[in-house]
Amino acid sequence: MKGIILAGGAGTRLHPVTFAVSKQLLPVYDKPMIYYPLSVLMLADIRDILIISTAEDQPLFQRLLGDGSELGLRLTYAVQAEPNGLPEAFIIGADFIGDDSVALILGDNIFYGPGMSDCLRDSRRDLDGCVLFGYHVSDPERYGVGEVDDRGRLTAIEEKPAHPRTDRAITGLYLFDNEVVDIAKNLAPSARGELEITDVIRAYQRQGKAQVIDLGRGFAWLDTGTHDSLLDAGQYVQVLERRQGVRIACIEEIALRRGFIDAESCFRRGARLPKSGYGEYVMDIARKDERQQDHRQKAVLR
Ligand code: DAU
Repeated sequence: MKGIILAGGAGTRLHPVTFAVSKQLLPVYDKPMIYYPLSVLMLADIRDILIISTAEDQPLFQRLLGDGSELGLRLTYAVQAEPNGLPEAFIIGADFIGDDSVALILGDNIFYGPGMSDCLRDSRRDLDGCVLFGYHVSDPERYGVGEVDDRGRLTAIEEKPAHPRTDRAITGLYLFDNEVVDIAKNLAPSARGELEITDVIRAYQRQGKAQVIDLGRGFAWLDTGTHDSLLDAGQYVQVLERRQGVRIACIEEIALRRGFIDAESCFRRGARLPKSGYGEYVMDIARKDERQQDHRQKAVLR
């Protein structure tokens, strides 16, 4: 499965903050926003990832993440000239996707919760159609809203309905089989003049091939669309990280734990940021991993 992070758009709701810098590069507490969706794809064991942004922002994303090899990833970059809608990601990314299935994640969506990796890895296995992730919210009119039957199959979806029939938002993480490329290419713009992700999903729903997994109450799906929600997201991350002494969405840690890189490469990444707590954390993770390896080796020799 390939992965796409859609990180374009004008970020108008965050002006003037986003006049000069992409929204997805803004900090969410101690790391750039794009680390969060990137870490979700990595947890799903997706290593081939396309980052789509505006032309002006592309060099900044490249400066931040490079070709991904230091993290055991293959990162490529593409430009979306205008925010013509989320499904344009599949048209821009058609060659990159090739014959594969694809996970699309919006660059401003933050997910955090127990069982995330297992849930993603299970969902991508034997994917036939699409898998969506539902989340109950108090303001469903701001999102795509889905209805499901008792087997979790999507029966209806609407984009930002004035009078939502359920409170289940469809979050910005979508797993699609390869048919999505053709569906996107044949899509007509909506009344808003954009291609709509809900229209893509509806094409799957009509074939009975759209499955919804509801993220439970212990799960956090955080919004970063306004100044307040961005600050809330940062504070959420701060509270958890301080309390538990762990880092959420530390891409080096995930790369190490998933076996994409070894402890030495992990340490080297951390050593480049010696003055930040983030760098220290990464070095510490690498040291601990090395010690564990030593213990394991000694146990084998004994
Ligand atoms: O966050 C989940 C929601 O995302 C879904 O529930 C909705 O169904 C889906 O349409 C989308 O709604 P938004 O109102 O959040 O979409 P927005 O236009 O704000 O775009 C989401 C992000 O994607 C935003 O960071 C900008 C980026 N984007 C958006 C468009 C339309 C692009 O990179 N390119 C685009 O063409």
